[in-house]
Amino acid sequence: MARTALVTGGSRGIGAAISTALKAAGYSVAATYAGNDEAAAKFTEETGIKTYKWNVADYDESKAGISQVEADLGPIDVVVANAGITRDAPFHKMSPEQWKEVIDTNLTGVFNTVHPIWPGMRERKFGRVIVISSVNGQKGQFAQVNYAATKAGDLGIVKSLAQEGARAGITANAICPGYIGTDMVMAVPEKVRESIIAQIPAGRLGQPEEIARCVVFLASDDSDFINGSTISANGAQFFS
Ligand SMILES: NC(=O)c1ccc[n+]([C@@H]2O[C@H](COP(=O)([O-])OP(=O)(O)OC[C@H]3O[C@@H](n4cnc5c(N)ncnc54)[C@H](OP(=O)(O)O)[C@@H]3O)[C@@H](O)[C@H]2O)c1
Repeated sequence: MARTALVTGGSRGIGAAISTALKAAGYSVAATYAGNDEAAAKFTEETGIKTYKWNVADYDESKAGISQVEADLGPIDVVVANAGITRDAPFHKMSPEQWKEVIDTNLTGVFNTVHPIWPGMRERKFGRVIVISSVNGQKGQFAQVNYAATKAGDLGIVKSLAQEGARAGITANAICPGYIGTDMVMAVPEKVRESIIAQIPAGRLGQPEEIARCVVFLASDDSDFINGSTISANGAQFFS
C-alpha cells in the first residue's frame, strides 16, 4: 500500500514541487495551505492532489486537520513541515508583531505539525520528518532576525527529534534551501534580488524541484541511516 505524506504549505512554491514529486514517487499526498483558496484549487485541479486549509500556527486547527487527512488517506508516514513566511525588517524597526507572527508560523508551526503525528509514527515504528529550514537559519541575514531565529530553531528540532525517534524507526532531517525562485523571493525588490544572485556562485536562483528531489530521497528507505542531518542546497552560497 502507498505510504501517506503530508506537506504543509504544499499548494504553492517549494511545497507544491514537493507534493508533486512525492505523488510521482508513489505516495498518497495531502497538501495544506493557509488562505489562498484560488491557488489551492488550481493546484488540485492540475495535480489531483487534495488540499486542506488550516493555520499551522494554531495547534488545535493542526490537530483537527491532521485527523481529517488521516481519516481520508490513512496514517501519515512522511511529514514535510514546509509552510513558512517572512516579515522582514531591520531589528531596530522590527515590531513585536512581526517577531511573533514568524515565530508562530515557522517555529511553533513545526511543533504543531509534527506533534500530533509523532505518537502514530512511534506506534507503527516508521516515520520520516523533514523540515524545510533555510540558508538564512545557518548564516543569519540582515533584516531577518525573526526568520533566521526560526530557521536555526528548526535545526535544533530535527537534531533532537532524531535522537528521540531513532529507536522507533523514525528519522528527522532538515533541508536548508538557498534562494529559490518562488513567490517569496520574487516579492523581494528586483535590485535586492539581483544583489542576492550576485552572491550565489552558481549564478542563479534554485528551482523548487531541486529541493523536492532532496525531500524524495529523505522520505525513501534509502535514507534510513541519515538522521538529524541537514542537506544544504544553495548553489555554493554558504557552507555549514
Ligand atoms: N523561496 C526561498 O528562496 C526559500 C529559501 C529557503 C527556505 N525557504 C523556505 O521554504 C518554505 C517554502 O517557501 P516558499 O518560497 O515556497 O513559500 P511560498 O511560495 O510563499 O508558499 C508558502 C506556502 O506556505 C503556506 N503557508 C504560509 N503560512 C501558513 C500558515 N500559517 N499555515 C499554513 N500554511 C501556510 C502558503 O499558503 P497560502 O498559499 O494559503 O498562502 C503556501 O502554500 C518556507 O518555509 C520558506 O521559509 C524558502
